[in-house]
Amino acid sequence: MSKVLMITATGGTNYELAKKFATKAEDLGHDSDIVDLSEIDFPMFTVARSKELETVAGMSELKQKMGDADSWIVIAPEYNGSMPPTLNNTVAWLSTEWNDFRALFNRRKVGLATHSGGGGAHVIMAMRQMFSFLGCIVIGRNCIANKNKDANPETVEDMLRQLFD
Ligand SMILES: Cc1cc2nc3c(=O)[nH]c(=O)nc-3n(C[C@H](O)[C@H](O)[C@H](O)COP(=O)(O)O)c2cc1C
Repeated sequence: MSKVLMITATGGTNYELAKKFATKAEDLGHDSDIVDLSEIDFPMFTVARSKELETVAGMSELKQKMGDADSWIVIAPEYNGSMPPTLNNTVAWLSTEWNDFRALFNRRKVGLATHSGGGGAHVIMAMRQMFSFLGCIVIGRNCIANKNKDANPETVEDMLRQLFD
């Protein structure tokens, strides 16, 4: 049995998409969990703040969940042709934890998904670039949904099966 963590950047349509992945993962006999970065609501990362704050509320719990999972599906809406600040901000905080940084990202299998306003391809590209840079193994297939197009259930299942392989 494998453990997949859905990391959603927002609590609306993207959280709903995260639930679809979580339900399918469990149907396939695996463990799943969801974290909503907008609910954790980290302060905005600045170098000055990262020196001031010894502990950021919610960070150790998030790191524990991310580290315990064999793989992640990262689900985020497109904002201005890129990723939303909740995701970028969270990764900035996580990446400054130098000792744990490689253990957290390197070789982690990651799938990418979005529910966006009408686009979605740009946020997938932005996330692919960032997570690949961090050492993750980002699978080629991704899931793009919007108000006129539901997530393709076959894509959801195939992405999960690739993570569980
Ligand atoms: C600041 C902002 C910028 C946005 N930029 C884009 C965009 O570039 N492309 C797009 O397809 N949708 C864009 N949208 C729409 C969101 O991607 C869309 O509403 C998404 O479903 C919101 O996710 P949520 O319901 O999980 O909050 C933008 C929304 C906001 C608030």
